[in-house]
Amino acid sequence: MKPSDDKYLFHRDITKSYPIMEKAEGIYLYGLDGRKYIDGVGGIAVVTIGHGVEEILDVMMEQARKACFIYTGQFVTEPQLRLAKKIAQLAPPHLSKVFFVSGGAEATETALKMARQYHLETGNPSKYRVISRWMSYHGNTIGALSMSGRPLWRKNFIPLLLDSKLSNSASTSLIYSQAVSREPSACRRRPQIAPRR
Ligand SMILES: Cc1ncc(COP(=O)(O)O)c(C=O)c1O
Repeated sequence: MKPSDDKYLFHRDITKSYPIMEKAEGIYLYGLDGRKYIDGVGGIAVVTIGHGVEEILDVMMEQARKACFIYTGQFVTEPQLRLAKKIAQLAPPHLSKVFFVSGGAEATETALKMARQYHLETGNPSKYRVISRWMSYHGNTIGALSMSGRPLWRKNFIPLLLDSKLSNSASTSLIYSQAVSREPSACRRRPQIAPRR
């Protein structure tokens, strides 16, 4: 197989051709072309224990043999309960419940929806606006991108984004005075990073 065999794949960057990886072990990726790469970003900061860790593979295989997918809208599983308990024990005391999702953007959007639900339930239906910082990154789906402050990644999608407010400052008292428009002209401008307070 050669990189030119990839015409059916919709690449992240359609102007590029990507090397084909065959396997990954520890910190290394091995290409079909015989080249060895150091996976310096650990996937993208998600393979923190390295690739191909045998004990993890054994547990994954053991579980896959029992069941690969159980719908969480109707059932729970023992590994799910055990993992929730472990995460809750590792987290700070006020974070005592775990909600499993499939990735980062889904996590931030779920947090957004939970916050909205909380305010509805506690009698604050007008509270819906999210405040976040320019240059922050919370994922690339529409909801997560609405809360993310990367001008270049936002500019083509401005009309689709939610009504979030982005600020240069970590200080919430300044946020409304510094909040900028969701319009492309504003988003093309590179924001000034506020001095640390
Ligand atoms: C802070 C933060 N939130 C959300 C995401 C998005 O995660 P995903 O690519 O799994 O949707 C990332 C990814 O790098 C992230 O660093």
